[in-house]
Amino acid sequence: MAHVLDVEYARSQFPALKSGFIFADNAGGSQITQRSIDLIVDYLTNTNVQLGADYSVSVTSTTRVFGAAEEARQLFNADTTDEIVFGSSSTANLDNLARGLENTINEGDEFIITGEHEANCGPWKKLAARRGAVIKYWHSTPTNPNNPYSLSLKLEELLALISAKTRIVAFTATSNLLGSVVPVQEITKAVRAEAAAKGAPKVEVSIDCVAYAPHRRMDVKAWDVDYCVFSFYKVYSPHVSAMYVRAPALASVTSIVHHFLAPEYAYKLQPGGPGYETVYGTKAALPYLLSLTPANDLAATFEAIAAHETKLVTALLSYLTAPEQAARGLRVVGVEEPGPTRLPTISFVVAGDRPMRSKDVVKVFDERGGIGIRWGHFYAYTLSTQLPPPADKDDGVVRISLVHYNTVAEVEKIISIFKEIFA
Ligand SMILES: Cc1ncc(COP(=O)(O)O)c(C=O)c1O
Repeated sequence: MAHVLDVEYARSQFPALKSGFIFADNAGGSQITQRSIDLIVDYLTNTNVQLGADYSVSVTSTTRVFGAAEEARQLFNADTTDEIVFGSSSTANLDNLARGLENTINEGDEFIITGEHEANCGPWKKLAARRGAVIKYWHSTPTNPNNPYSLSLKLEELLALISAKTRIVAFTATSNLLGSVVPVQEITKAVRAEAAAKGAPKVEVSIDCVAYAPHRRMDVKAWDVDYCVFSFYKVYSPHVSAMYVRAPALASVTSIVHHFLAPEYAYKLQPGGPGYETVYGTKAALPYLLSLTPANDLAATFEAIAAHETKLVTALLSYLTAPEQAARGLRVVGVEEPGPTRLPTISFVVAGDRPMRSKDVVKVFDERGGIGIRWGHFYAYTLSTQLPPPADKDDGVVRISLVHYNTVAEVEKIISIFKEIFA
């Protein structure tokens, strides 16, 4: 039986949605559930003390905060909570990871990265500079010869980059700009086979799931990856990041902060990391997701989310790719066809002989009010500077990013504003 999303139920869980404002910048950060807000308030009201002391309030506080690793474990489908590390952001988690791997990197080792969000580029580029390693880019390339912006990652182009020196392959499960689901399991399998055939002694795979986790199910075991990261503020909770570090990899990652690897901790809290109350607030993400279908199961939840999101994507992409919009110079940045692997994170530029700046398109939405979308490079510097002219790197693209609590009626409202812009 197909699992169907009850969108009204989903919306009722978010106090911000009662305002009627159309939140269409969810790839920048989604709204937070009442349940998550309640957990944070309850923590601050009743158990806001330092962890690890023997007095009763601290014991309760410690249990509450350490318990949050179990929800993250289930969201990743990791084996144990020992494999979960919390950090203030995915950027910080990945940078800490790259520093922790430093002693395992030799001069000439090769890192293959996607030019996507800087969080998944910067840490690897800095690590390469510190250790004399080499960066190779797995770039997105067009899928439609008539649209140079119709970018997606192609497996064969990645495999061509692999050599006996490949040490790390780090890619996004979904780009926060292009919005396509990358088949992580298939890619990781092919990478490992190619690396083995070419004689690479040790290849580790790291996945950035920040733009993926709100939409589709993560499965680090089925994917066979070594590291994986996502941020709860995209998954209906406060800004905290969880990182998966596969158990055997824990042995070779040097502790760069005093709790990174301490085995006595049920999970690892990094100094300078998130507040305990926000870690506690993340516990609401899993129950919320499970509550979205009667099956009480993540696979069912994400099946229902995928079906609903596909309706949103189909409505929006059908408008944006229609011949009138194409003639006006509108070019979707990313895959143009709707379908279950196309997420409702939809970017575009207005090029052609009557180009419009992304900033000016968004200005119309701002002037009408009531809808939040934005323009820019979205920290995907490498990708946005790779875009063909006339996309201006300082102007970037327009991005409309929806999640399962957005409705087809909201998409229709967005389309009505486009009609004014292009009238
Ligand atoms: C794909 C992707 N990776 C990484 C990040 C960075 O996450 P954080 O803000 O938690 O550092 C983002 C944030 O938008 C993102 O979209």
